[in-house]
Amino acid sequence: MDNESIVLLSRREIEKMRQAGQLAARLLTYLEPMVKPGVSTLELNDAAEAWTQKHGAKSAPLGYHGFPKSICTSINEVVCHGIPHAKQILREGDIINIDVTPIVDGYHGDTSRMFFVGDPSPMARRLVEVTEECLYRGIAAATPGGRIGDIGAAIQECAEASGFSVVRDFVGHGVSRIFHTAPQVPHYGTRGKGKKLRPGMVFTIEPMINEGTWEVEILSDKWTAVTKDGKLSAQVEHTIAITEAGVDILTLHPDLVPANA
Ligand code: MF3
Ligand code: CO
Ligand code: CO
Repeated sequence: MDNESIVLLSRREIEKMRQAGQLAARLLTYLEPMVKPGVSTLELNDAAEAWTQKHGAKSAPLGYHGFPKSICTSINEVVCHGIPHAKQILREGDIINIDVTPIVDGYHGDTSRMFFVGDPSPMARRLVEVTEECLYRGIAAATPGGRIGDIGAAIQECAEASGFSVVRDFVGHGVSRIFHTAPQVPHYGTRGKGKKLRPGMVFTIEPMINEGTWEVEILSDKWTAVTKDGKLSAQVEHTIAITEAGVDILTLHPDLVPANA
């Protein structure tokens, strides 16, 4: 995907991306009250699929490069791409990432959040808080005229200042009518390096931050990425647009968007 060129989206296309992004945010809010001990990740998946269809959208992950379900559910040491399963039951104290990507009128809204199952450990809570902080630092660094490396540098500093590490094996990505396209957006790096950020660029920022080592392993299902040391991992994701004025978060829940924005 790195020798593809970066497509700049028109204002009209960015509004289409916002429609998809807001539906994605609403889907996470819909799922939130279901995240309780005793619920299976398949139940979350099936609720997400039904809600998505009811709203006239399609689940991009389903069948994507053979992915078998509609959402990704990544618990505790799972870094990303966890596959929902009937036998995988949420337990008190778990942390879980739910990653959704509805397609609305051809455009992808890609976002994920962390949820607490009951009352996780202080370490788990801190990891999640820092990961959210890292995402917002990365978004704040995404300004027109800046560079892709500014984003990763901001995220890496935020994570490492708290003693955590940044996953290298998965990156943010351009997203539009295509699920994953240029540019690649690493969550680590060097300020001033990488492609220039220009108005009309639309991409995700989705840092995966680990309690211990940044190294990951892929399980035999060929999808589930886990931490090599079995320690915790957290991830949060927004889809953003670079505008003349700065940065526009397209996957904010509509209730969180100021009316005059
Ligand atoms: N939504 C994920 C992302 O943030 C991609 C999931 S691809 C799947 O890029 F095939 F695993 F669903
Ligand atoms: Co993504
Ligand atoms: Co995603």
